[in-house]
Amino acid sequence: MERENFGNRFGVLVAMAGSAIGLGNLWRFPYLVGSYGGAAFVFVYIFCVLLCLPIFMSEVVVGRRSHANAYGAFKVLAPGTRWKWLGAVSVVTPIIVVSYYSVVGGWSVEYFFKAATLEFTSGATQAGMSTMFGRFISSVWSPIIGHTIFLLLTAGIIIAGVKSGIEKFGKIMMPLLFVLIIFIAVRAATLPGAGEGLRYLFKPDFSKIDASVCAAALGQAFFSLSLGVGTILTYGSYVSKNENIIASSTWTATADFLFALLASCAIMPAVFAFGLNPQEGPGLVFETLPFIFANMPLGWLVAILFFLALIVAALTSSISLYEVGVAYLVEEKGLSRRGASVLVFAIAWILGILCSLSFGPLADFHILGQTVFNLFDKVSANVLMPVGGLLLVIFVGWVMKKHDVIDEMTNGGTLSGNRRTSQVIYFLIRYICPLAVVAVFLTALIF
Ligand code: PHE
Repeated sequence: MERENFGNRFGVLVAMAGSAIGLGNLWRFPYLVGSYGGAAFVFVYIFCVLLCLPIFMSEVVVGRRSHANAYGAFKVLAPGTRWKWLGAVSVVTPIIVVSYYSVVGGWSVEYFFKAATLEFTSGATQAGMSTMFGRFISSVWSPIIGHTIFLLLTAGIIIAGVKSGIEKFGKIMMPLLFVLIIFIAVRAATLPGAGEGLRYLFKPDFSKIDASVCAAALGQAFFSLSLGVGTILTYGSYVSKNENIIASSTWTATADFLFALLASCAIMPAVFAFGLNPQEGPGLVFETLPFIFANMPLGWLVAILFFLALIVAALTSSISLYEVGVAYLVEEKGLSRRGASVLVFAIAWILGILCSLSFGPLADFHILGQTVFNLFDKVSANVLMPVGGLLLVIFVGWVMKKHDVIDEMTNGGTLSGNRRTSQVIYFLIRYICPLAVVAVFLTALIF
């Protein structure tokens, strides 16, 4: 069967950056920065991104070399071995992630409508905004409707295909996203009293760095770069043979990091300008920000743009999660693209409903002491993603032939500029990355 490829270099970049840049940057990163001490966290995070970059390249290498979906890739590259189990996990995990991701995507849809109908009005209090959020997520229908709309949008883009769905959507939306976030960051940074927030972001207090900061930063780097769940592998399989893997991976990671910083510049200065607590946690975007928007000049416009940006960023990531299952079902099970999309929709929709209800009627239903939403979130971000990433990098460093890996990174030796770099990257993949990932997790466990 003829497989689709991304059309050109820009297409590859927007698709990969689209996957990487998402709720992780706009929602997760800023609240982690707030909870883990500001610039010190940012500083550790930079190291973690550098550590994750070779892992990102490894995923692209496996995808492009095998030219197959996340499960098929291991059958092609290591036939008859147990590595196909890693492939199986890589197909199941993104479906779990997309189901709870879509619930938060649904919250963004709801908040976009709230912003567009000017519900965040002046005079709102922070307590009022927290109550509004609490009431909303614990209700039954509204969040499920949001989740359904969001998942339908995702499915629509997926059905349109790799080139005319994923790539085209990214090409229009990713530049728009950068424009939106720059506009919001400039607005926030020019609020009176914003300087304090910028100092908080850029002037590290190194005494704040401890094992928990390192573990959180590494987990966030995995999450933000979409690693360990077969996503980058699947996108890698759509990258054409003359593409420069080292360059496009580096560009993606850079864009992802810059976007996370920009998002923090849009949020932290405003938090400080209003004398609020940066350690708000996951509620930062949905409770603190609407309060700020309600009380700042031009806030209504910024609110609409911010929640629009949140939806767009979340969509380009959720399509990358969704595509993993679709590619698997089409190539391994012979389903049509449309049929596969419907099947993934059905599974993710039902699981997502359980996640959504776990803030309301199912709040007391616990598995391993966690609500369904928290279980999905914790197990995937803290266990499945890092373990998946670790196994993948071991696969590339120790199971694949060195010659094949270097061959992928230099396009059969034709990219002479990559010859030296690829040797260094191979060394990192084989020794440094696995050891460092294990070390960080052991430290986090022990301390
Ligand atoms: N990287 C995405 C974000 O930051 C989330 C994601 C994780 C997407 C894993 C795909 C795979 O929001």
